[in-house]
Amino acid sequence: MVESVPTVKTVLDLRSQVSAWRNQGHKIALVPTMGALHEGHLSLVDVALSSADRVIVSIFINPTQFAPHEDFDNYPRNYQADAALLQQRGAHLIYTPAAGDMYAENDATRVTVDSLSDSLCGISRPHFFTGVATIVCKLLLQALPDLAVFGEKDYQQLMVIRAMVGDLFIPTQILAGEIVREKDGLAMSSRNAYLSSSQRSAAPLLVQTLQRIAEEIIQKEDIPAVLAAAKGRLAKQGFEVDYIEVRRASTLQPVIDKVNAGEVLRIFGAVLLGTTRLIDNLEVIYPNS
Ligand code: PAJ
Repeated sequence: MVESVPTVKTVLDLRSQVSAWRNQGHKIALVPTMGALHEGHLSLVDVALSSADRVIVSIFINPTQFAPHEDFDNYPRNYQADAALLQQRGAHLIYTPAAGDMYAENDATRVTVDSLSDSLCGISRPHFFTGVATIVCKLLLQALPDLAVFGEKDYQQLMVIRAMVGDLFIPTQILAGEIVREKDGLAMSSRNAYLSSSQRSAAPLLVQTLQRIAEEIIQKEDIPAVLAAAKGRLAKQGFEVDYIEVRRASTLQPVIDKVNAGEVLRIFGAVLLGTTRLIDNLEVIYPNS
């Protein structure tokens, strides 16, 4: 019989396991997730395992990062399948706190990272990054891991978390995992399960659009014109464009002035296919000549 990964549900049990590991001299990593795990999440477990001795994966569908009209109630939940995948991948502990414990009745504290949270996804999802920063802050303070791993798939989220951890002096190193994609290029996401088969066939156009923008930027075409044409092509194929933008990768500042040779940019896209929101991003290095 295959051993299953131990699961704890309370912060007391989490902390007692963490302190037992600390007493044994282990380095501890946390991978926060909302479950419905796929290869993208599991690649973060690999990153964690390569830098730490013990890996905790939290599964918590965080209500404060969903707006009332969003998919909190329908968000995929499949603990058994998640636990089996984590067991195969070599995670050491699953943490599945209850919503009532993470947000007690008198809970009143929110963590907001100004500026970085205001653009891109923050415009159409104004509560999202406060919800994310608040729950990640709670998870990090509960587990106090040496390191925590987040995916570049949610690049703005990663930047917000790095800023929060720095500003609040949380003693956890933040590592990033690269975007894991399906064979046709679509970035893996728990929300891909919502797509109909025709939407699923159309969905790779998002990453293809970002790739074409990257090529055009490398050819030094005019960035605003490139973005306008890209949005037009997506709209023509039935995508509702939330944003397609190019930002400076290290600050998320818009590219309005001259770009220097060798500067690292990031192209961001968010679209709706039917009611399903897809996001993706791609790095591009501005050429020398
Ligand atoms: P969730 O969407 O479950 O994602 C958990 C982690 O997996 C995030 O760090 C996300 O960036 C990463 N991830 C998702 N798809 C990926 C892919 N295709 N390639 C690489 N990494 C990928 O993001 C959240 O949950 C929540 O906002 C959370 C941080 C857990 C806070 O509630």
